[in-house]
Amino acid sequence: MPCIFITGGAGFIGSHVVRRMVNNHPDTTIVNLDALTYAGNLANLLDVEDASNYRFEKVNICDVPALTELFNRYQPDAVMHLAAESHVDRSIEDPMAFVNTNVVGTVNLLNAARELWKGNMVGKRFYHISTDEVFGALGKEGLFTEATAYSPNSPYSASKASSDHFVRAYHETYGLPVVISNCSNNYGPNHFPEKLIPLMIHNILEGKPLPIYGDGQYTRDWLYVLDHAEAIERIFLKGKLGQTYCVGGWNEWTNIDLVKVICRLMDSKLGKAPGSSEQLITYVTDRPGHDLRYAIDASKIDNDLQWKPAHTFEEGIAKTIDWYLDNSAWLEGVTSGAYQTYYDKQYAK
Ligand code: NAD
Ligand code: DAU
Repeated sequence: MPCIFITGGAGFIGSHVVRRMVNNHPDTTIVNLDALTYAGNLANLLDVEDASNYRFEKVNICDVPALTELFNRYQPDAVMHLAAESHVDRSIEDPMAFVNTNVVGTVNLLNAARELWKGNMVGKRFYHISTDEVFGALGKEGLFTEATAYSPNSPYSASKASSDHFVRAYHETYGLPVVISNCSNNYGPNHFPEKLIPLMIHNILEGKPLPIYGDGQYTRDWLYVLDHAEAIERIFLKGKLGQTYCVGGWNEWTNIDLVKVICRLMDSKLGKAPGSSEQLITYVTDRPGHDLRYAIDASKIDNDLQWKPAHTFEEGIAKTIDWYLDNSAWLEGVTSGAYQTYYDKQYAK
């Protein structure tokens, strides 16, 4: 039976990728490798945890002996690498955690795959899931493409850029069969509420201020996470080795306009007076090095792999809010204890 390692499968995007791969590939063993940091949550995968082709291994990708044992035991044919420290604000507070997991952890995986596959790389694949933040900031015009030069501005994006370079270098130097994708901002179910959209939903439910960094004119290109999971499967199966693919939603919003949409939908779904959630909006100290705008030209993946987003933003955001309203136990579980400590420190600035 073929075997695929998915790293970071207990996280936000990883859990949607694991579910999709387990369900769509019943004759392949899908092994989820995850350290279960604050962002990893096996409750994201309750519906597949008993599937006969699913395994979970709690492992830190910085632990080389443990990785070597797993590669020897399972002999994976492919790796889909999503494990990462993923939050820009945390990277500003603690860059080394990002260097360790995102750079060193990625190189550890490349080394393990190279060692296992040496002498026979046919049919093997190392797929590295990355971000559009590696390209830095756009001005008011223009879009990122696969040809855009790297120019990362935060410790997070610098660590992801570094990991992309190592993946590419292992292809050029050792012939490792790699593919890379760089995606825009995801949103949807299971998104950890340190990130903009779920943080706003959570704070509206709690009646807490809605913190907007700077003037709120920063712009992001939002993609529904299930559409990203579909793109990831497509790139994994059909992407050309040695190539990169930009993935995005063709869906730009300034932060303030996006938060106002969430406020209006929440008022309506919660039966609150129109305008009541907007009164919680509070402008706070800006993020240092804040990138003005990200936006992806996703033409290549459309033309070459026939992928485009299936959900409109109106559908995606409504489904997302409904998911949080229907899963209050999940939200409570991830916002107790350590989250509160993080939140109080981050927003005391
Ligand atoms: P996440 O923070 O929700 O999940 C990360 C997962 O990785 C968690 O389950 C965590 O436990 C695990 N992990 C962290 N450090 C680890 C380590 N040292 N060893 C093993 N596991 C570890 O992240 P996400 O938002 O799902 O992002 C997944 C990937 O996609 C990341 O590589 C990220 O850079 C990339 N990405 C994210 C977005 C986005 O909008 N969220 C957009 C583009 C690309
Ligand atoms: O572009 C892809 C990237 O998108 C991914 O690589 C990252 O892993 C992911 O976290 C995300 O990064 P951002 O920094 O764009 O996402 P975040 O949700 O943290 O912030 C989105 C925007 O909202 C950004 O301009 C900062 C702003 N913001 C964020 C928070 C948490 C606020 O104004 N207030 C907030 O409280």
